[in-house]
Amino acid sequence: MPFTRRSFIKATGAGVFLPAIIGRAWALEGGAPLPIPEVLDLRGGDQGALTARLSSAQFLQGRSTETAGYSADYLGPVLRVNRGETARLKLGNSISEPVSVHWHGLHIEGAQDGGPHSPVNPNATVNAALDIDQPAATLWYHSHIMGRTGAHVWYGLAGMLLVDDPAAPDSGLPGSYGVDDLPLVVQDRIFDGSGNMVYAPRGPSLMMGYRGNEILVNGAILPEASVPAGLVRLRLLNGSNARIFHFRFDDGRPFAQVGSDGGLLPAPVAMSNLTLAPAERAEIIVDFSDGAAVRLLSGADGNSPMGGMMGGMLPRPPLDSSGAFEVMRFVVNGGLAAKVSTLADSMAGAAVPDFGAPVRRRSFRLDTMGGGMMGMMGGGGSSMSINGAAMDMAVINQRVKLGETEIWQIDATDMLHPFHVHGTSFQVLSNGGVAVDPAKTGLKDVVLVNNRAEILVKFTRTATAATPYMFHCHILEHEDQGMMGQFTVAP
Ligand code: C2O
Ligand code: CU
Ligand code: CU
Repeated sequence: MPFTRRSFIKATGAGVFLPAIIGRAWALEGGAPLPIPEVLDLRGGDQGALTARLSSAQFLQGRSTETAGYSADYLGPVLRVNRGETARLKLGNSISEPVSVHWHGLHIEGAQDGGPHSPVNPNATVNAALDIDQPAATLWYHSHIMGRTGAHVWYGLAGMLLVDDPAAPDSGLPGSYGVDDLPLVVQDRIFDGSGNMVYAPRGPSLMMGYRGNEILVNGAILPEASVPAGLVRLRLLNGSNARIFHFRFDDGRPFAQVGSDGGLLPAPVAMSNLTLAPAERAEIIVDFSDGAAVRLLSGADGNSPMGGMMGGMLPRPPLDSSGAFEVMRFVVNGGLAAKVSTLADSMAGAAVPDFGAPVRRRSFRLDTMGGGMMGMMGGGGSSMSINGAAMDMAVINQRVKLGETEIWQIDATDMLHPFHVHGTSFQVLSNGGVAVDPAKTGLKDVVLVNNRAEILVKFTRTATAATPYMFHCHILEHEDQGMMGQFTVAP
């Protein structure tokens, strides 16, 4: 059943059958220019507007696809906000069901957070005021309605959000938006034969998360970016519902990670392979000064049922037996000025952790049992859980004290779950039984839990029971089935 204005409301629940034939509608060539989202610049105090709407866009040649977006046909503009300012936005909704705008990664009050308790109802307008006080970082925003987040994000209700810090020393990193500083929202999607996107999680795709067989970057399949012959900063966001990417270049070239979820790292970290789970971000610097064209690839997602072979979820024809696939291409354009050619050894303006000794430990056990089985049976189960409880909008699961440092221990043994916490950035202490080097991972708001992760958290903003913060798995089908909880932060 394709997405239509009506089916956006109805057809995405657990009871919908997969279409008999998933169109293997690969865009034959790819190579369209990388779309660069418009910037909605809120710096300096101008009020902006974001309106959720249904629209259509062309992803596949000759076919139009019904979509959703925030003041755009698909996805939304890149928002830019300044530390030390209040960013103001008028939020609208022309869709016939409630949506929200959650500011993923912003350290703002629960009342500003845009979670499930803060819907923008159909035809309503909400004035959002976001008090920005955190280091420069690459964040994002997306709809966050209980039981509907997976469908909303899948059809396009998401966008990137950049925090700038005018008072921080210059990092010296490439920063010409759209030229040597590129936002890359990477997502997987499924299209049916008519060109519409299919969102019908059921059975294994409900239990393991919903994946697509086409890879989109900024809403284009297999696009090509033209870059200058120098250093280029890529702001990567995994905007997929469930897919974990393992990024690398086809020529194996090394690159440097300079930022993670919460901002810049203290020093560049050299690597040639980068894993990004749903909702995670990384800023990387790639050297294109050799002038060679190069393809960005991803390895297969080990979380995917049977390596992704089921249900048409295998990304376009894989490149090899490991299941690696192409994400996008880069070509060097000598006409573009290469402004930055060297990277400093340490990063001015890096986010500085400020935790101190923990005073408490809390435990969170993520469990897919129940929801998964009910999904298998075709029932509308909502019993994925954390600590044995499925998300209940009326229940506050944890109460946290403002300004106290805690260790949160997250256990998840059945598969890899990206655990996310609202309202702050945390430091990962250990994962999979191995100590984690904070200089390499930086400040995070998502951690891909390998059996057990321990994180150091502290909150500098409050959240009341009326608009609590969330903690949840960012596999959106898990979240929608209840692998989420709520907490308050108070003095
Ligand atoms: Cu990105 Cu609670 O979300
Ligand atoms: Cu969030
Ligand atoms: Cu999960």
